[in-house]
Amino acid sequence: MKHVVVLTGAGISAESGLGTFRDKGGLWARYDPMTLATPEAFARDPALVQAFYDARRRNLLDAAPNAAHAALVRLDKELADRGGRLTLVTQNVDDLHERAGSRSVLHMHGELLKARCLACRAVSPWRADITPVDRCPVCGVGGLRPHVVWFGEMPLGMDAIEAALADADLFVAIGTSGSVYPAAGFVAAARRHGARTCELNLEPSDTAGLFEERHHGPATAVVPTWVEATLAG
Ligand code: OAD
Repeated sequence: MKHVVVLTGAGISAESGLGTFRDKGGLWARYDPMTLATPEAFARDPALVQAFYDARRRNLLDAAPNAAHAALVRLDKELADRGGRLTLVTQNVDDLHERAGSRSVLHMHGELLKARCLACRAVSPWRADITPVDRCPVCGVGGLRPHVVWFGEMPLGMDAIEAALADADLFVAIGTSGSVYPAAGFVAAARRHGARTCELNLEPSDTAGLFEERHHGPATAVVPTWVEATLAG
């Protein structure tokens, strides 16, 4: 197996204590995303939107990567040792893949521990709450917003992701409900280009029927087991 493309979603970080979106009790089950995760919501009530992301950022700083994040680090290293490669694409704005040791992560929905300048658009590392008096570390002028992709905005890194999907031998989706595009369309794109496909999720996702192979259960159990089997096979 030469090129494995992995797409992760909120489910891989659930056992690290970070909430998912659409599960019972999930973020979008409790809050309306249109009031918190759109450019219009930010223009209308920036304090409300910043407070939501400030709380998620604090939660993230208290969390730690789990066995599923660690198993993907192992997969990356062992594929590289055998002349293959892993492209890791995540919809997650957390940094748990990086803290587990993943070297290169495509954050298509942005990163919670970065802030973007509203004036010059520079992206800077940011671990504190974002307040109205904060200024951009690059231009010194602008106010800041979280470096996350909101509904109605373009996901990041799509050219690199589409190129990886076109080249993939195996596409694996982990911990994602398959309900948000364009990520929900990656399995069909990978299949069109001839890749095998596999879903690892707590339960069958909205797009489960599109995957040839499926393993259901908590990520900390199914991901290490699947990595072990894939490297052995
Ligand atoms: P969702 O909340 O939509 O889906 C999470 C998936 O993870 C569900 O299918 C759960 O069954 C599964 N899951 C829950 N706990 C799990 C566990 N312990 N192990 C394995 N799987 C588990 O989250 P995403 O699919 O990531 O975008 O959501 C996609 C996007 O929608 C997010 O990136 C976010 C959101 O709106 C933006 O904010 C732009």
